[in-house]
Amino acid sequence: MIPNEVIIDLGALRHNFFEIKRLAGPHTRILAVVKSDAYGHGMIPVARTLESAGIDYLGVFELEEGLALRKAGCKVPILIMMGITSNEVSAVVEHGLTPSLFQLDIAEKLSRISAEQGKVTPVHVKVDTGMTRLGVCFKDLRNFLKEILPLKGIELEGLFSHLAIADQPSHPFTDQQIRRFHKVIEESRRLGVSPRVIHISNSGALLGNKGLDLGMARPGILLYGSPPAQGWAASVSFKPVMTFKSRVIQIRTVPLGTSISYGCTYTTPKRCTIATIPVGYDDGYSRLLSNNGEVLIHGRRVPVVGRVCMNLTMVDVTGVEGVSVGDEVVLLGAQGDERITAEEISTRIGTINYEVYCAIGKSNRRVYIDP
Ligand SMILES: Cc1ncc(COP(=O)(O)O)c(C=O)c1O
Repeated sequence: MIPNEVIIDLGALRHNFFEIKRLAGPHTRILAVVKSDAYGHGMIPVARTLESAGIDYLGVFELEEGLALRKAGCKVPILIMMGITSNEVSAVVEHGLTPSLFQLDIAEKLSRISAEQGKVTPVHVKVDTGMTRLGVCFKDLRNFLKEILPLKGIELEGLFSHLAIADQPSHPFTDQQIRRFHKVIEESRRLGVSPRVIHISNSGALLGNKGLDLGMARPGILLYGSPPAQGWAASVSFKPVMTFKSRVIQIRTVPLGTSISYGCTYTTPKRCTIATIPVGYDDGYSRLLSNNGEVLIHGRRVPVVGRVCMNLTMVDVTGVEGVSVGDEVVLLGAQGDERITAEEISTRIGTINYEVYCAIGKSNRRVYIDP
């Protein structure tokens, strides 16, 4: 069997959740974003851990994820953030899920089917305050609410919006979005509705103390132990949850002038010891790490040499004493006193830590620990 493992530390996840709660304060509930297989960490174990730690709400992207959580026994409220299609309405009602709502035809069908079954389905109306992605435009919200308020069988439990640039704390657009959101909250109150759950704060807003007075925050990346962008002050201590490990499967000492991997993009500048690892871009280890990444062996950083292949990567271990076949290699996470973070990898390859977690977490066998 390929010796690659993604290790998910549920103790670190719990720690991050309690750290988020401390940051948010006693009056702000937490909706944990567990969409996209909990950013590659495994939606069901993550959700179960958070549920037993007292999470208030879970957020998934689509219906299928909500149904999987219910099937796994999750009892907490679940928001389907993408919203739903017409043919998903019955399942939402049957399984007690909360759809994001921004279309009148869906509202009408939800109302009809819920009423037929003698149920009341909670909905969170999605307001677009500037992200221009999903939701009712803040300018149109009043009219939308007037249309849905008379509908039986649905309860306007929540109003929510999403921030476009909260990861840049000093950017004025976040305050503009929050002002727009406050305005529509006021408008809805004037229409006689007081949604019980109002949320806009993602991880960036949480760290920047924005929108927390609304009573609920909706973090994702902080739960998994990473900041939403580089350069956040370390006023809080989050623990990375994911580690990606492999093992050396071959060692060779080669003479000066030996080319390594596809494209002959690396030639040894001297006699070198090269270790081969069974990790490639098929395992979420980006090809952009060719001649660019570092991994940990014996607690030391060693460079990736040559191109990352589909299933194999070579590293130069010349400076590290006694590396043998079978030795542990850490591609993401800590070994000895060294650590490779998702932020480091994402900087090297010009992307964001979110993408690194999703790619690695979803491509490998995951092992859960709860130390
Ligand atoms: C609608 C919505 N809310 C909240 C989040 C969580 O964002 P973050 O991981 O930056 O906290 C996301 C993430 O993409 C999202 O799409």
